[in-house]
Amino acid sequence: MRDSGYVTPATISPTAHYTGFVWARHGLSHPALVTAEGRALFHLLRPAAAIGGALGAPYIESVLMTRHRLIDLKLSEAIESGRITQVVEIAAGLSPRGWQFSQRYADRLTYIEADLPGMTLRKREALARIGPLAPNHRVVDLDALADDGPESLAALVATLDATQGVAIVTEGLLNYFNEDVVRGIWQRFARALGRFPRGVYWSDLHLSSETRGPGVGTFVKLLSIFVKGRVSLHFTSAEQASAALRESGFTAASLLDPRDFSAQLGDIPNGVSRHVRIIEARATGQA
Ligand SMILES: C[S@@+](CC[C@H](N)C(=O)[O-])C[C@H]1O[C@@H](n2cnc3c(N)ncnc32)[C@H](O)[C@@H]1O
Repeated sequence: MRDSGYVTPATISPTAHYTGFVWARHGLSHPALVTAEGRALFHLLRPAAAIGGALGAPYIESVLMTRHRLIDLKLSEAIESGRITQVVEIAAGLSPRGWQFSQRYADRLTYIEADLPGMTLRKREALARIGPLAPNHRVVDLDALADDGPESLAALVATLDATQGVAIVTEGLLNYFNEDVVRGIWQRFARALGRFPRGVYWSDLHLSSETRGPGVGTFVKLLSIFVKGRVSLHFTSAEQASAALRESGFTAASLLDPRDFSAQLGDIPNGVSRHVRIIEARATGQA
């Protein structure tokens, strides 16, 4: 773990492989985005995940599918309305979203997947197995903690069309960082989105008030051991998290409860999760 209290990229990247396998297993992804590491981890952890779920811990597959489907839903609504034509997915890992949305929306959308260099290399190799990238789909190196320089978000957004709306997406990232680091990330995102006529940010977040109960503490501890660092539950309530987003520079912020979207999220094993929220924060306009 670094001084700032967050887990290093090398220790959290196994979770990206695990998630990549879960998405593919449920038909949300392409087999080319599955890695041997992801498959092995899934089978290794499967008994513990099942026992944990039965004891009241979050069903991990339900959490992963709930957050992914709700972000997909919100993003596709914004793209289809024309409010968003550019997406930057930060810490994309092995997410299929860039590939899927680029296929679906073709030249209506610019999709940039960003991650640290080791992961982007894996991602480019995996996507190449599917076929050539769509013309407006890119995979770039980016450090979410960099304020400036070639791998910063500031440098990346300077290459986008300043007259069009932009969405930033992160998934499975925030709870591996301490609160100061998270607030720094949010400040960078709000600043970057503020350059555009419409700017919106979607991300999953776990609240401590919704991550309590029998089995949950053990789950969080096990996950912390697995990623060799602390998993942080920074905010107790949705109100606290929204306030922190506004203090970081967003003009409006709310934490969506996936259960309010159950009818639109489709079948999810063990149901829509009550253990995860989706941040929807605007930096400008009404995206
Ligand atoms: C837990 S994985 C999540 C990946 C994917 N979004 C998902 O839901 O499975 C975390 C990802 O964050 C990336 N990451 C870690 N630190 C980062 C940083 N400072 N900037 C950008 N990406 C980072 C890792 O390389 C990894 O792909």
